[in-house]
Amino acid sequence: MRKVIIIGIGAGNPDYITVQAINALNEVDVFFVIDKGAEKDDLNRLRKDICARYIRDRSYRTVEIPDPARERDAPCYEASVQAWHARRVALYEQLIARELGDGECGAFLVWGDPCLYDSTLRIVEQIVARGVVTFDYEVIPGITSVQALAARHKIALNRIGRPVEITTGRRLAKGWPTDVDDVVVMLDGECSFKHIAESGIDIYWGAYLGTADEILVSGNLQERGRDIERLRAEARTKKGWIMDTYLLRRAGGASE
Ligand SMILES: C[S@@+](CC[C@H](N)C(=O)[O-])C[C@H]1O[C@@H](n2cnc3c(N)ncnc32)[C@H](O)[C@@H]1O
Repeated sequence: MRKVIIIGIGAGNPDYITVQAINALNEVDVFFVIDKGAEKDDLNRLRKDICARYIRDRSYRTVEIPDPARERDAPCYEASVQAWHARRVALYEQLIARELGDGECGAFLVWGDPCLYDSTLRIVEQIVARGVVTFDYEVIPGITSVQALAARHKIALNRIGRPVEITTGRRLAKGWPTDVDDVVVMLDGECSFKHIAESGIDIYWGAYLGTADEILVSGNLQERGRDIERLRAEARTKKGWIMDTYLLRRAGGASE
């Protein structure tokens, strides 16, 4: 039986890798690496560094998977994402069938943790459901960018007995979510916090968390929002890509 392991490698720092992930890396014959556009060189370098640093006395192959293009300006976001996933399912299925021999172990190295805003698990589930290629699969958790953000700002994400919502910039732009005072925002290319006019909101922002380029800013949103927009634009121009995550927190209430 073939096996595929989906390994969370942490969101930026090679030290974020867990012992379980290191053990899994040392079982792998074939790494499937998805080619992801502008940030790919830096992210792929980190993946290579992780393999070089943690894999001992074992030969492995790497297979690059070109990421199928996604229609960015499609009228229906969900439909365009579904169509993109379907193209990825077909492509990954072909590659697993072609590249992974019987009894071999393949792996996808997922940035951060595979359970958070990552489509690899959904894609692998769909391949298994189609039954064209059969394999066992396993998931190894990793440190998410949200955990890295909280650790670097030395904050707890929740207040005592209170919920935290993790959402996207696209959704925040439509307004503050109901029934929560603590909101973590990911996948925000537009600084959607600028749509929040309410006073008494603190922001804890982090870009390139866990890497040598890490930038951290915190403070009152009205006072620091513009600085963050400027810093983000400058960093993105300099590096060619950016990944940032932030917590927005309504004032009041203790952390637990
Ligand atoms: C496709 S999601 C992947 C999330 C990932 N699975 C995780 O566990 O963090 C990409 C988003 O994660 C966040 N992100 C990932 N790595 C980051 C980092 N090192 N610094 C800041 N934000 C990061 C950004 O919000 C980015 O837009």
